Amino acid sequence: MYRIIRIFIYPLHPVSLLDKVPKIKSHFSCQSCGYQSTKWMGRCPECGEWNTFVEERENAEDKTRWSGEERGAVKPIPISEIESCYEKKLISGIAEFDRVLGGGIVPGSLILIGGDPGIGKSTLLLQASAKVSKDAGVVLYISGEESGSQIRLRSDRLGSFSDRLLILSETCLEDIIPHIEKVNPSLIVVDSIQTIYTTQLQSAPGSISQVREVSFQLMQISKKIGIATFLIGHVTKDGAIAGPRVLEHMVDTVLYFEGDRGHTFRVLRAIKNRFGSVNEIGVFEMKNNGLEEVTNPSELFLSEMPSNISGSVVVSSIEGTRPILVELQALVSYSNLNMPRRMATGVDPNRVSLLIAILEKRVGLHLQGEDIFVNVAGGVRIDEPAVDLGIISAIASSFKDKPVDAKTVVVGEVGLAGEVRGVTHIDKRLSEASKLGFTRCIIPKIKRDILRDIKIETIEVSSVGEALEVLL
Ligand code: TYD
Ligand code: MG
Repeated sequence: MYRIIRIFIYPLHPVSLLDKVPKIKSHFSCQSCGYQSTKWMGRCPECGEWNTFVEERENAEDKTRWSGEERGAVKPIPISEIESCYEKKLISGIAEFDRVLGGGIVPGSLILIGGDPGIGKSTLLLQASAKVSKDAGVVLYISGEESGSQIRLRSDRLGSFSDRLLILSETCLEDIIPHIEKVNPSLIVVDSIQTIYTTQLQSAPGSISQVREVSFQLMQISKKIGIATFLIGHVTKDGAIAGPRVLEHMVDTVLYFEGDRGHTFRVLRAIKNRFGSVNEIGVFEMKNNGLEEVTNPSELFLSEMPSNISGSVVVSSIEGTRPILVELQALVSYSNLNMPRRMATGVDPNRVSLLIAILEKRVGLHLQGEDIFVNVAGGVRIDEPAVDLGIISAIASSFKDKPVDAKTVVVGEVGLAGEVRGVTHIDKRLSEASKLGFTRCIIPKIKRDILRDIKIETIEVSSVGEALEVLL
């Protein structure tokens, strides 16, 4: 009966052909409450959330999932008998890159690298791939975005060549897997994860379900054969890697490549790292022939510092294990708006609002009617309370129009009572400042003996008021 109806509905298609169309078993499930449906829906009827439906493959098809071994072939082993892969790390030779990864690329690890379009992700990974392939082994660079000749053009420009660097321009995962098995590379780069799709799902490449499924299968391969895999991911408008949190949970390491398109500095930052410290940063400069490492970032960040201008203060911030000196700038100017503007780039705007309130209440500056702009020079971002006193000093300096001495560095966290609190690694911060020729440093009250070997004048302050008295 059913067939007759079908013949009636599709008179042009022979029934036998229709039967051969593979039925992909998938359903849509709400990522918020788990409600399942055969169709995509905008709003979940169960929990009422919007845009939470994601296509998922049925478990019944699990046998088609890539697996190098029979079921149950992997047996539990005592931990003492498992070989550590730590010594076998692949070293790219790009020191800034290796340090962010925790000393090298761990075999079998999955590393996600995100960043705005055009920031230099493909450039960085092509350079790293060429280096790894020269020294460590075969690298398979899978590009779904660029053709082989485009990549060749880029590598001509970068001077990155090696016979062991293989380029594969392919977007279908099922076509990629046989090549991985045949080539057996030490490193795979997938540029980008949003362009690769699996035929097992119907949704478009780049959708959450595709990104998740492709990453999951690549993870299985890389863990089983012990290949390190880099996944390049695009960043959405709100700054998250598309195919959001699911990917970050799945991978071993999450890196962000950031920078201001107007500047040439690029910062590689670890957000999650199972094999090393997070908050470690690597600094690069985008040149005509690719990315160049910046071994002394402070010098670069301070190179354009104006002299004798109010509102500019140098702070010493610790990024990972490294102290970095950067210039903080503030501009306070009279506002004719009812709600004066408060803008901060490179530092947390909420933190800046709090520090402005402290300046008003504890120091008595009348900032209510002023527009206040705070900026970190060079397009870097700092996320550390130790720059609080620096922000406060820059705002006060601009408000009073009195410059802060250019050879002075300011360090300290500020509490709500206007007190200056201690910071970590004060010795490292000060020795970096003294190395770069600074002569004086405003610091919180500390134990004297930490600073035995540091040749820089230190002035200890216990409150914001005291610090401003010394500086302005
Ligand atoms: P790209 O690596 O393609 O960015 P992503 O993969 O993150 O989208 O980088 C593209 C930008 O880098 C482009 O705007 C030009 C610039 N660039 C240079 O300045 N010098 C170079 O040698 C290269 C290869 C790129
Ligand atoms: Mg790219």
